[in-house]
Amino acid sequence: MSEQELRQIRNGKQNGVMVKVENLVKSFGEVIAVNDLSFDVRPGEIFGLLGPNGAGKTTTVKILLGLIEEDSGEIEVFGLDPSKDEVKVKNRLGYVSEDPLIYKSMTPRMLFNFISSIRNLNEAETTEKLRYYFDSFEAVEYYDKLIATLSRGNKQKMQVIASLLHDPDLLIVDEPLTGLDAKSAKVLKEILELHTERGGAVIFSTHILEVAEEICDRIAIIDKGKLVAMGTVKELSLMANKAGADLEDIFLKLTSQDESVAHIIQNLKKMFSNNKK
Ligand SMILES: Nc1ncnc2c1ncn2[C@@H]1O[C@H](COP(=O)(O)OP(=O)(O)OP(=O)(O)O)[C@@H](O)[C@H]1O
Ligand SMILES: [Mg+2]
Repeated sequence: MSEQELRQIRNGKQNGVMVKVENLVKSFGEVIAVNDLSFDVRPGEIFGLLGPNGAGKTTTVKILLGLIEEDSGEIEVFGLDPSKDEVKVKNRLGYVSEDPLIYKSMTPRMLFNFISSIRNLNEAETTEKLRYYFDSFEAVEYYDKLIATLSRGNKQKMQVIASLLHDPDLLIVDEPLTGLDAKSAKVLKEILELHTERGGAVIFSTHILEVAEEICDRIAIIDKGKLVAMGTVKELSLMANKAGADLEDIFLKLTSQDESVAHIIQNLKKMFSNNKK
Protein backbone atom coordinates (compact mmCIF):
# COMPACT_ATOMS: atom_id res chain seq x y z
CA MET A 1 0.00 0.00 0.00
CA SER A 2 1.41 3.39 -1.00
CA GLU A 3 1.99 6.28 1.40
CA GLN A 4 -0.68 8.23 -0.48
CA GLU A 5 -3.25 5.45 -0.02
CA LEU A 6 -2.34 5.24 3.63
CA ARG A 7 -2.81 8.96 4.04
CA GLN A 8 -6.17 8.79 2.27
CA ILE A 9 -7.36 6.15 4.67
CA ARG A 10 -6.05 8.07 7.66
CA ASN A 11 -7.90 11.15 6.42
CA GLY A 12 -11.04 9.08 6.01
CA LYS A 13 -11.30 9.78 2.31
CA GLN A 14 -11.35 6.20 1.08
CA ASN A 15 -15.00 5.26 1.69
CA GLY A 16 -14.59 7.13 4.97
CA VAL A 17 -14.27 3.81 6.77
CA MET A 18 -11.54 1.76 8.39
CA VAL A 19 -13.63 -1.28 9.11
CA LYS A 20 -16.68 -2.48 7.26
CA VAL A 21 -18.72 -5.42 8.47
CA GLU A 22 -21.76 -6.54 6.49
CA ASN A 23 -24.21 -9.29 7.35
CA LEU A 24 -21.67 -11.16 9.46
CA VAL A 25 -22.76 -14.59 10.69
CA LYS A 26 -20.88 -17.06 12.89
CA SER A 27 -22.24 -20.14 14.65
CA PHE A 28 -20.65 -22.59 17.06
CA GLY A 29 -22.75 -25.73 16.66
CA GLU A 30 -26.28 -24.80 17.71
CA VAL A 31 -25.28 -21.39 19.05
CA ILE A 32 -25.52 -18.44 16.65
CA ALA A 33 -22.84 -16.24 18.19
CA VAL A 34 -23.04 -13.49 15.55
CA ASN A 35 -26.28 -13.13 13.65
CA ASP A 36 -26.35 -10.85 10.60
CA LEU A 37 -24.26 -8.07 12.12
CA SER A 38 -23.40 -4.94 10.11
CA PHE A 39 -21.48 -1.84 11.16
CA ASP A 40 -18.60 0.34 10.09
CA VAL A 41 -15.85 2.16 11.93
CA ARG A 42 -14.46 5.46 10.69
CA PRO A 43 -11.05 7.03 11.15
CA GLY A 44 -10.92 9.29 14.18
CA GLU A 45 -13.62 7.54 16.18
CA ILE A 46 -13.85 5.29 19.21
CA PHE A 47 -16.52 2.77 18.33
CA GLY A 48 -18.06 0.90 21.25
CA LEU A 49 -19.30 -2.69 21.05
CA LEU A 50 -21.68 -3.18 23.94
CA GLY A 51 -23.67 -6.22 24.88
CA PRO A 52 -24.49 -8.64 27.69
CA ASN A 53 -22.31 -11.71 28.39
CA GLY A 54 -22.38 -14.02 25.40
CA ALA A 55 -23.69 -11.31 23.03
CA GLY A 56 -21.02 -12.03 20.41
CA LYS A 57 -18.58 -9.15 20.99
CA THR A 58 -15.41 -11.23 21.31
CA THR A 59 -16.44 -13.48 18.43
CA THR A 60 -16.88 -10.40 16.21
CA VAL A 61 -13.51 -9.03 17.28
CA LYS A 62 -11.77 -12.36 16.65
CA ILE A 63 -13.23 -12.56 13.15
CA LEU A 64 -11.96 -9.03 12.42
CA LEU A 65 -8.52 -10.13 13.56
CA GLY A 66 -8.61 -13.21 11.36
CA LEU A 67 -8.34 -15.45 14.45
CA ILE A 68 -11.55 -17.29 13.60
CA GLU A 69 -13.38 -17.59 10.31
CA GLU A 70 -16.88 -16.29 9.68
CA ASP A 71 -19.61 -18.50 8.22
CA SER A 72 -20.81 -15.73 5.92
CA GLY A 73 -20.75 -11.96 5.48
CA GLU A 74 -18.33 -9.35 4.23
CA ILE A 75 -15.44 -7.87 6.20
CA GLU A 76 -13.03 -5.18 5.15
CA VAL A 77 -10.28 -3.76 7.32
CA PHE A 78 -8.44 -0.80 5.73
CA GLY A 79 -10.26 -1.82 2.52
CA LEU A 80 -8.58 -5.25 2.69
CA ASP A 81 -9.87 -8.73 3.38
CA PRO A 82 -8.21 -9.80 6.68
CA SER A 83 -8.20 -13.47 5.68
CA LYS A 84 -6.42 -12.74 2.35
CA ASP A 85 -4.18 -9.84 3.37
CA GLU A 86 -3.44 -11.04 6.86
CA VAL A 87 0.05 -9.58 7.14
CA LYS A 88 -0.86 -6.15 5.75
CA VAL A 89 -3.83 -5.93 8.09
CA LYS A 90 -1.91 -7.17 11.14
CA ASN A 91 0.89 -4.66 10.53
CA ARG A 92 -1.55 -1.82 11.07
CA LEU A 93 -3.66 -3.27 13.81
CA GLY A 94 -3.16 -3.45 17.58
CA TYR A 95 -5.12 -5.89 19.73
CA VAL A 96 -5.80 -6.14 23.44
CA SER A 97 -7.41 -9.49 24.15
CA GLU A 98 -9.97 -10.08 26.92
CA ASP A 99 -7.68 -12.82 28.29
CA PRO A 100 -4.56 -12.02 30.28
CA LEU A 101 -1.17 -12.01 28.57
CA ILE A 102 0.07 -15.49 27.61
CA TYR A 103 3.85 -14.98 27.50
CA LYS A 104 4.19 -15.78 31.17
CA SER A 105 7.72 -17.15 31.12
CA MET A 106 9.11 -13.93 29.65
CA THR A 107 9.95 -10.61 31.24
CA PRO A 108 8.50 -7.45 29.67
CA ARG A 109 12.01 -6.65 28.34
CA MET A 110 12.13 -10.02 26.54
CA LEU A 111 8.56 -9.65 25.29
CA PHE A 112 9.12 -6.19 23.83
CA ASN A 113 12.45 -7.21 22.26
CA PHE A 114 10.62 -10.12 20.69
CA ILE A 115 7.79 -7.90 19.39
CA SER A 116 10.29 -5.35 18.05
CA SER A 117 12.16 -8.01 16.15
CA ILE A 118 9.12 -9.72 14.59
CA ARG A 119 7.60 -6.38 13.67
CA ASN A 120 10.96 -5.03 12.52
CA LEU A 121 10.59 -1.85 14.60
CA ASN A 122 13.13 0.93 14.79
CA GLU A 123 15.20 0.30 17.93
CA ALA A 124 15.71 3.90 19.06
CA GLU A 125 12.07 4.87 18.48
CA THR A 126 10.82 1.76 20.26
CA THR A 127 13.06 2.37 23.26
CA GLU A 128 11.76 5.92 23.44
CA LYS A 129 8.11 4.78 23.23
CA LEU A 130 8.67 2.10 25.84
CA ARG A 131 10.10 4.70 28.19
CA TYR A 132 7.01 6.90 27.76
CA TYR A 133 4.57 4.04 28.19
CA PHE A 134 6.32 2.50 31.19
CA ASP A 135 6.54 5.92 32.85
CA SER A 136 2.89 6.68 32.09
CA PHE A 137 1.73 3.37 33.55
CA GLU A 138 4.21 3.58 36.44
CA ALA A 139 5.53 0.16 35.53
CA VAL A 140 9.30 0.73 35.22
CA GLU A 141 10.05 -1.54 38.20
CA TYR A 142 8.45 -4.53 36.42
CA TYR A 143 10.57 -4.34 33.28
CA ASP A 144 12.77 -7.28 34.25
CA LYS A 145 10.29 -9.26 36.33
CA LEU A 146 8.72 -12.45 34.97
CA ILE A 147 5.30 -11.68 33.53
CA ALA A 148 3.92 -14.67 35.46
CA THR A 149 4.75 -12.89 38.72
CA LEU A 150 3.02 -9.60 37.84
CA SER A 151 -0.36 -8.64 39.27
CA ARG A 152 -3.45 -8.83 37.04
CA GLY A 153 -3.42 -5.09 36.35
CA ASN A 154 0.30 -4.95 35.65
CA LYS A 155 0.00 -7.86 33.20
CA GLN A 156 -2.77 -5.91 31.50
CA LYS A 157 -0.52 -2.86 31.17
CA MET A 158 2.04 -5.04 29.33
CA GLN A 159 -0.65 -6.24 26.96
CA VAL A 160 -1.76 -2.66 26.30
CA ILE A 161 1.81 -1.48 25.64
CA ALA A 162 2.40 -4.47 23.33
CA SER A 163 -0.64 -3.46 21.26
CA LEU A 164 0.62 0.11 20.84
CA LEU A 165 4.29 -0.32 20.12
CA HIS A 166 4.03 -0.42 16.30
CA ASP A 167 1.73 2.66 16.16
CA PRO A 168 -1.26 0.84 14.67
CA ASP A 169 -3.97 2.72 12.74
CA LEU A 170 -6.68 0.59 14.28
CA LEU A 171 -6.81 -0.57 17.88
CA ILE A 172 -9.18 -3.38 18.77
CA VAL A 173 -9.51 -3.60 22.52
CA ASP A 174 -11.64 -6.19 24.31
CA GLU A 175 -12.39 -5.10 27.89
CA PRO A 176 -9.04 -3.25 28.04
CA LEU A 177 -9.62 -1.73 31.48
CA THR A 178 -9.85 -5.13 33.19
CA GLY A 179 -7.66 -5.06 36.28
CA LEU A 180 -6.38 -1.52 35.74
CA ASP A 181 -6.51 0.87 38.70
CA ALA A 182 -8.21 4.24 38.31
CA LYS A 183 -5.02 6.09 37.36
CA SER A 184 -3.95 3.56 34.73
CA ALA A 185 -7.49 3.43 33.35
CA LYS A 186 -7.35 7.21 32.96
CA VAL A 187 -3.97 6.94 31.20
CA LEU A 188 -5.32 4.32 28.81
CA LYS A 189 -8.44 6.34 28.01
CA GLU A 190 -6.18 9.32 27.29
CA ILE A 191 -4.01 7.19 24.96
CA LEU A 192 -7.12 6.07 23.06
CA GLU A 193 -8.28 9.68 22.67
CA LEU A 194 -4.84 10.80 21.43
CA HIS A 195 -4.75 7.88 19.02
CA THR A 196 -8.06 8.93 17.44
CA GLU A 197 -7.12 12.62 17.41
CA ARG A 198 -4.33 11.80 14.98
CA GLY A 199 -6.68 9.84 12.70
CA GLY A 200 -6.58 6.36 14.23
CA ALA A 201 -9.70 4.38 15.12
CA VAL A 202 -10.62 2.19 18.09
CA ILE A 203 -13.07 -0.68 18.46
CA PHE A 204 -13.80 -0.80 22.16
CA SER A 205 -15.65 -3.88 23.39
CA THR A 206 -16.88 -3.51 26.94
CA HIS A 207 -19.53 -3.98 29.61
CA ILE A 208 -18.50 -0.86 31.48
CA LEU A 209 -21.25 1.49 30.42
CA GLU A 210 -19.87 4.57 32.17
CA VAL A 211 -16.64 4.24 30.22
CA ALA A 212 -18.46 3.65 26.94
CA GLU A 213 -20.58 6.72 27.59
CA GLU A 214 -17.50 8.75 28.45
CA ILE A 215 -15.24 7.90 25.53
CA CYS A 216 -17.14 6.26 22.66
CA ASP A 217 -18.18 8.44 19.74
CA ARG A 218 -20.66 5.82 18.54
CA ILE A 219 -21.89 2.63 20.11
CA ALA A 220 -23.32 -0.59 18.68
CA ILE A 221 -25.45 -2.50 21.14
CA ILE A 222 -25.56 -6.19 20.35
CA ASP A 223 -27.59 -8.89 22.03
CA LYS A 224 -27.64 -12.60 21.18
CA GLY A 225 -25.47 -11.84 18.15
CA LYS A 226 -27.85 -9.28 16.67
CA LEU A 227 -27.48 -5.54 16.34
CA VAL A 228 -30.08 -3.95 18.60
CA ALA A 229 -29.19 -0.30 18.05
CA MET A 230 -26.31 1.87 16.87
CA GLY A 231 -25.50 5.54 17.26
CA THR A 232 -24.25 8.21 19.63
CA VAL A 233 -25.44 8.04 23.25
CA LYS A 234 -27.92 10.78 22.39
CA GLU A 235 -29.28 8.87 19.40
CA LEU A 236 -29.53 5.69 21.46
CA SER A 237 -31.43 7.51 24.20
CA LEU A 238 -33.99 8.70 21.63
CA MET A 239 -34.33 5.16 20.24
CA ALA A 240 -35.02 3.90 23.77
CA ASN A 241 -37.48 6.74 24.43
CA LYS A 242 -35.28 7.74 27.32
CA ALA A 243 -34.01 11.21 26.44
CA GLY A 244 -31.46 12.38 28.97
CA ALA A 245 -31.16 8.96 30.68
CA ASP A 246 -27.77 7.42 31.41
CA LEU A 247 -26.41 4.66 29.20
CA GLU A 248 -27.22 1.97 31.78
CA ASP A 249 -30.96 2.64 31.56
CA ILE A 250 -30.80 3.00 27.78
CA PHE A 251 -28.85 -0.25 27.47
CA LEU A 252 -31.22 -2.21 29.71
CA LYS A 253 -34.23 -0.88 27.83
CA LEU A 254 -32.79 -1.59 24.37
CA THR A 255 -31.72 -5.11 25.34
CA SER A 256 -35.16 -5.68 26.94
CA GLN A 257 -33.56 -6.36 30.31
CA ASP A 258 -35.17 -3.47 32.20
CA GLU A 259 -38.25 -5.38 33.39
CA SER A 260 -36.24 -8.47 34.23
CA VAL A 261 -33.82 -6.38 36.32
CA ALA A 262 -36.72 -4.76 38.18
CA HIS A 263 -38.11 -8.23 38.89
CA ILE A 264 -34.74 -9.57 40.11
CA ILE A 265 -34.29 -6.57 42.43
CA GLN A 266 -37.80 -7.06 43.83
CA ASN A 267 -37.05 -10.75 44.56
CA LEU A 268 -33.71 -9.91 46.19
CA LYS A 269 -35.37 -7.31 48.43
CA LYS A 270 -37.95 -9.92 49.46
CA MET A 271 -35.23 -12.47 50.28
CA PHE A 272 -33.17 -9.97 52.31
CA SER A 273 -36.21 -8.77 54.27
CA ASN A 274 -37.23 -12.41 54.99
CA ASN A 275 -33.76 -13.15 56.35
CA LYS A 276 -33.21 -10.20 58.66
CA LYS A 277 -30.24 -10.43 61.06
N1 LIG B 1 -15.05 -21.41 20.70
C1 LIG B 1 -16.35 -21.46 20.99
N2 LIG B 1 -17.02 -22.63 20.98
C2 LIG B 1 -18.34 -22.69 21.24
N3 LIG B 1 -19.09 -21.62 21.54
C3 LIG B 1 -18.48 -20.43 21.58
C4 LIG B 1 -17.09 -20.28 21.30
N4 LIG B 1 -16.77 -18.96 21.40
C5 LIG B 1 -17.91 -18.32 21.72
N5 LIG B 1 -18.93 -19.18 21.83
C6 LIG B 1 -20.33 -18.84 22.14
O1 LIG B 1 -20.71 -17.76 21.31
C7 LIG B 1 -21.50 -16.82 22.02
C8 LIG B 1 -20.86 -15.45 21.96
O2 LIG B 1 -19.67 -15.48 22.75
P1 LIG B 1 -18.68 -14.24 22.84
O3 LIG B 1 -17.47 -14.70 23.58
O4 LIG B 1 -18.50 -13.67 21.50
O5 LIG B 1 -19.54 -13.23 23.73
P2 LIG B 1 -19.13 -11.83 24.39
O6 LIG B 1 -20.15 -10.84 23.95
O7 LIG B 1 -17.71 -11.53 24.13
O8 LIG B 1 -19.37 -12.16 25.94
P3 LIG B 1 -18.61 -11.63 27.27
O9 LIG B 1 -19.25 -10.32 27.57
O10 LIG B 1 -18.95 -12.64 28.31
O11 LIG B 1 -17.14 -11.53 26.98
C9 LIG B 1 -21.66 -17.40 23.42
O12 LIG B 1 -22.89 -18.09 23.48
C10 LIG B 1 -20.49 -18.33 23.57
O13 LIG B 1 -20.77 -19.38 24.47
MG1 LIG C 1 -16.09 -11.26 25.35
